[in-house]
Amino acid sequence: MLKQHLQELQQHPTPLYVYNMDLLRQTLQAVKQEAGKYNYHVHYALKANANTPILNEMRAFGFGADCVSGNEVKAAIENGFTPQEVVFAGVGKSDEEINYALDQDIFSFNCESSHELEVLNELAAAKGKTARIALRINPNVNANTHKYITTGLEENKFGINAWELDSVLSQLQQLPNIKLIGIHFHIGSQITDLSAFRNLCTRVNEFQDWFEARKIELEHINVGGGLGVDYYHPEQNPIPDFEAYFGLFSQFLEVRPGQQVHFELGRSLVAQCGTLVSRVLYIKNGITTNFAILDAGMTELIRPALYQSYHKIENLSSTKEEVRYDVVGPICESSDCFGKAVMLPETSRGDLIAIHTAGAYGEVMASAYNLRTKAKALYL
Ligand code: LLP
Repeated sequence: MLKQHLQELQQHPTPLYVYNMDLLRQTLQAVKQEAGKYNYHVHYALKANANTPILNEMRAFGFGADCVSGNEVKAAIENGFTPQEVVFAGVGKSDEEINYALDQDIFSFNCESSHELEVLNELAAAKGKTARIALRINPNVNANTHKYITTGLEENKFGINAWELDSVLSQLQQLPNIKLIGIHFHIGSQITDLSAFRNLCTRVNEFQDWFEARKIELEHINVGGGLGVDYYHPEQNPIPDFEAYFGLFSQFLEVRPGQQVHFELGRSLVAQCGTLVSRVLYIKNGITTNFAILDAGMTELIRPALYQSYHKIENLSSTKEEVRYDVVGPICESSDCFGKAVMLPETSRGDLIAIHTAGAYGEVMASAYNLRTKAKALYL
């Protein structure tokens, strides 16, 4: 798709984040349609990409906002989400962030520890308010994904463990400025094996029974996000299988009458619509390796350096015979490498290189390391 825009892209300085807004809208339409079949409600996880044009689309499709910092709550509200559509999660919410969210009367705080509940109660009391909360429970389900992005196992910093729940419930009875309205789960990210979600459903059903036995009514259950995308075949497979994903929950998740089911998807909504476009600065021929040195690096897309993630790399400018390259960035770190032994058409200085599937956890994770200038974004 980007090759069609080559002339336009050549006018822009690089590195550049390019967003395909048609693909974004098609993706969101699919989510809306499939989640809508079961009356499921989706909160978009802003941490994946919080650019205003992206947030505008999320809002236009009727999704809420899942935030993990005071600034994300602020970004959601400033971009038109109503406080009623905002949830605020995270293991380390500061007093300042909590106070801001309390002032906004957001829908729910997703709370991750008993100590946090105590502080939230105190801050809400000081304002004469009642904070609505969902307890984030650690379901101890293995997501079979990269160890840095799996979150649902015991001895993880996230969530409250099953064995702590009794004491948390008695604690809640002593906290008059907190109202329990839901339970929350999230087992990890980039999950491609849907059986992990099936296991999650089984655990959630057990927790629902546990609360029911204690006569506690839950208005909603939030099953988190985590649906993976196909980084290997972005062209053939641009939209994740939302039909299978939501269908699985409808089949295995038991929902009580009147109860709402919430999802917090980030990556699967925005990853594919974003591409990092870069220019080749130099070609360096080593003894056994040819290096294509780009003007984009781990400062624009840290995923390969941080998680050894694969992103498909394409030379948009050349149609020559293929040659093998290590595709690297300009940053003073050996891990600043987008791909090793990548077959690309023979590449020259000035060629435009696309690094695909960079719409999620790309621009938001950019850094100024080496005092780099923040790359701009282009919406096509
Ligand atoms: N809910 C909670 C509580 C989360 O921690 C996350 C992601 C999400 C929802 C959204 O998950 P998603 O649908 O995007 O998988 N930087 C890493 C991913 C970190 C994910 C953190 N939590 C990466 O680039 O792969």
